[in-house]
Amino acid sequence: MSTNQAVALSSKPLNIAVRPAREGDVPAITEIYNQGIEDRIATLEGEPHSVEERLEWFRAHGPQEPVLVAEADGLIVGWASLSCYKPRRCYDGVKELSIYVRREWRGRGVGARLLDALLKRGAEVGVHKVVLYAFPSNARALALYRKAGFRAVGIYRHHGLLDGQWKDIIAMELDLAGDQP
Ligand SMILES: CC(C)(COP(=O)(O)OP(=O)(O)OC[C@H]1O[C@@H](n2cnc3c(N)ncnc32)[C@H](O)[C@@H]1OP(=O)(O)O)[C@@H](O)C(=O)NCCC(=O)NCCS
Repeated sequence: MSTNQAVALSSKPLNIAVRPAREGDVPAITEIYNQGIEDRIATLEGEPHSVEERLEWFRAHGPQEPVLVAEADGLIVGWASLSCYKPRRCYDGVKELSIYVRREWRGRGVGARLLDALLKRGAEVGVHKVVLYAFPSNARALALYRKAGFRAVGIYRHHGLLDGQWKDIIAMELDLAGDQP
């Protein structure tokens, strides 16, 4: 880590730019995602992902499926996406949220900035509703989602297997379109 980055990390980020992701960001997106997987706090994914797989994931995003990154002094410090929820046509307006912040940048407001920008972008491109799935123990993520207006739909008990343990998963939703049909 450079001296500049170390200084930036010691206080709230002042110089965060949130922008649409490009293919060149995919290695950083992969690295940050793999940190979340490794930490066992965020996802049922158990194994790290390769850059090639993430590139395929990135390229699968359509015009209603924004992927954003947060950049601080040239370093990608987080990313967030709205991805296909289910391929059936009836779910076209429903997108699934993912959000991951670089380990040493968590708790400094990056997630809040990313989520705010992503939801605004989602509304602009006509997303009707956003759903997400999280571990009920992920207090920071849940606080972030509640603050953004997400409603808890409920908890799936023993919903997915991670490291030989059946984990509970909380489902949440946010209606971006309000009362619009
Ligand atoms: C969850 C995550 C995306 C949140 O992003 P972040 O940048 O760390 O969060 P922020 O600093 O923007 O904090 C957002 C809110 O969470 C709350 N919060 C922050 N730290 C917290 C903590 N340790 N415990 C509980 N709530 C906390 C605060 O209410 C904060 O809002 P405020 O600062 O306006 O009061 C990020 O921590 C992360 O990448 N975690 C690992 C991957 C992950 O869990 N992804 C989500 C999968 S569902």
